[in-house]
Amino acid sequence: MKEIDRINYYVNQIKKKIDFNPQLAIVLGSGLNDFADTIDKVASIDYKDLDGFVRCSAEGHVGRFVFGYINSVRVVVMQGRVHYYEGYDVADIVLPLRVMYYLGARNVIFTNAAGSMREDFKPGSFMVFYDQIAFLVKSPLIGNNLESIGNRFVDTTDMFDKDFRKLLLKIGKENGIDINEGVYIQAAGPQYETVAEMRAFKLWGADAVGMSTACECNAALQLSMKMAAISCITNYESGLNLTSEPLTHSQVQLMGQKANQALEILIKQFVKQAKEVNLLD
Ligand code: HPA
Repeated sequence: MKEIDRINYYVNQIKKKIDFNPQLAIVLGSGLNDFADTIDKVASIDYKDLDGFVRCSAEGHVGRFVFGYINSVRVVVMQGRVHYYEGYDVADIVLPLRVMYYLGARNVIFTNAAGSMREDFKPGSFMVFYDQIAFLVKSPLIGNNLESIGNRFVDTTDMFDKDFRKLLLKIGKENGIDINEGVYIQAAGPQYETVAEMRAFKLWGADAVGMSTACECNAALQLSMKMAAISCITNYESGLNLTSEPLTHSQVQLMGQKANQALEILIKQFVKQAKEVNLLD
């Protein structure tokens, strides 16, 4: 089956259940799933109720689409994503994103949990992607039947919308939220990075590391979606970790949960202000 036919199969399944045309997609990361419960919800669809769709196995990822409104903007929230480390092919990882695009979403905000490789990017703070390093994981643009989705060769210059980035930083400042811009690197995981890997990543120009998102951003780029991506810094990376405690997924989730309130302000204000100044496509 062509990938576009697989996507349309799910778009049609969803359309049979709900008539909703989202403008903005929001992807929630580890520990950040609570945000979906704060929107003006209209309906939700569990991934498991879509025949043959991906299933979330990572703890802290609910596994459903939530449809609703933020400040009268129509949004679809991915409450839980799937990862490369769960054994999925990259086409499956970006399937929910592509489905949201074909449901109507032309704008997207990605969120995730990430480890910081800089002392000044502290746990509890946020990092807006200025740029990304994605080549450690297979690209979703690889494949022989993707022509109907978008171009194979895409320009990555300024792939993260400048106005979106500027607005997020402004909102952070206005609300006393510690937020910076930086470069994200996606590692395959699921083991956390060694000190040597972290040193290498730093030399490559990365500021924070995680196990998702960059491949999804490339899929969004291929679809010409207007995008921003925000990391919630949940921990210092191996070489910077000054505690004697080993890094665990529960620690990452817990720190993410603590950041939920600030994330809610960031995203809700972003949607409100982006709408006011006509930034949303
Ligand atoms: N490394 C990779 N992924 C992560 C980390 C990390 O330190 N923290 C949260 N996700």
